[in-house]
Amino acid sequence: MRMYDIIEKKRDGGTLTDEEISFFIKGYVDGTVPDYQASALLMAIFYEGMNAHETATLTMDMAHSGDMVDLSAIKGVKVDKHSTGGVGDKTTLVLAPIVASLGVPVAKMSGRGLGHTGGTLDKLESIPGLTVDIDMQRFFDIVNTVGCAVIGQTGNLVPADKKLYALRDVTATVDSIPLIASSIMSKKIAAGADKILLDVKCGSGAFMKTPEDAIRLAECMVELGEEVGRTTVALITDMGRPLGNAIGNALEVQEACDTLKGTAPEDVTETCVELAANMLYLAGRGPLEECRVAARGQIANGEGLAKLREMVAAQGGDARALDDYSLFVQPACSREVRATKAGYVFAMNTERCGIASVALGAGRATKEDGIDMAAGIALAAKTGSHLEPGDLVATLYAATEDRLDEGERILRGAYDISDEAPAPIPHFFARVSRDGVERLG
Ligand code: URA
Repeated sequence: MRMYDIIEKKRDGGTLTDEEISFFIKGYVDGTVPDYQASALLMAIFYEGMNAHETATLTMDMAHSGDMVDLSAIKGVKVDKHSTGGVGDKTTLVLAPIVASLGVPVAKMSGRGLGHTGGTLDKLESIPGLTVDIDMQRFFDIVNTVGCAVIGQTGNLVPADKKLYALRDVTATVDSIPLIASSIMSKKIAAGADKILLDVKCGSGAFMKTPEDAIRLAECMVELGEEVGRTTVALITDMGRPLGNAIGNALEVQEACDTLKGTAPEDVTETCVELAANMLYLAGRGPLEECRVAARGQIANGEGLAKLREMVAAQGGDARALDDYSLFVQPACSREVRATKAGYVFAMNTERCGIASVALGAGRATKEDGIDMAAGIALAAKTGSHLEPGDLVATLYAATEDRLDEGERILRGAYDISDEAPAPIPHFFARVSRDGVERLG
């Protein structure tokens, strides 16, 4: 078998056989297929797509390219959640303790930020002392005693995705439905959970810009999960604006704590409650409406926050920081960005907000870069806000004035100010399950 023939077949719109897909994945992981041939095939897939069977074969070959995690040492129904990536997305830090405080174990392996999107591991590491480098036995022990833990992926979990994602990132082949679906679902299947909740982001800060594309991606992933016996549900949630007001690692942890204290912006709270309710529903905790009430209850009674304190302490972190934010590393410089003209924030380029926070130091331009845990943006105005000249738009935090200059320049370009007020945007567009698509909002 030759890679050349496989590339040519897909380039000409053909359907790849199981053997051809396996040849590609095995060869790419063991290094016999070079990056340039893998890139050519990715671009052919980007243009010609893959049918459901090809996508399923690709997903399973990727899932089996490394370790398959066995979570049977953890008692109860394990529900995993994965977001397709966004700006200001701190939901895992809220959901995991809410769900765990109601007795549903959450054994979560998360990722780091890359590009304009943030990563849960980086956010957690902004808590003084906390580690996400925990071996599997200790991970299982924490989940069994505390109820939740969030760690980094084991070294050999889906090596095919590690290599392919890095290649897609630099070859303009990220935003392809079969490639995103196989990337996410191979990791979820290898990570061993019984049920999977997907948070498919949609809008200017997401890979899928429209609800229709997000629904197509969600349908593809739900089918992949169900085919291997994992009940899978996807919520299509808004990423046309950053989620909440905080963008940046320590700032987002603080906003997650505010959510658990009941004092966070409404969009973060509603999104977290809906996602937590769906996780509880998948775990068999009753009808969705009852699960929503239960999730809200864990915010009101403080048990969600207490569970986060327990998890942070079990992972070596200083849980006092969740109540005293001065214990987080503090930014060296800050700047208030103020409006120069009157009008409504008609729309936001959310991807640009993420890029501004990376420029401030909150993210990496390359995987090897360090990050500034204190850097980021506290938004004061989002889509729908009315501004007068001089009103506060955002406060920026960084290590140097140069970084503030660059962050301000990029952030200003993210705001579309108009005389016209925008139509209200829903937080949720649809819920996709094996029963079909339910339109929301
Ligand atoms: N998240 C992933 O893990 N993979 C993708 O391809 C896109 C988002």
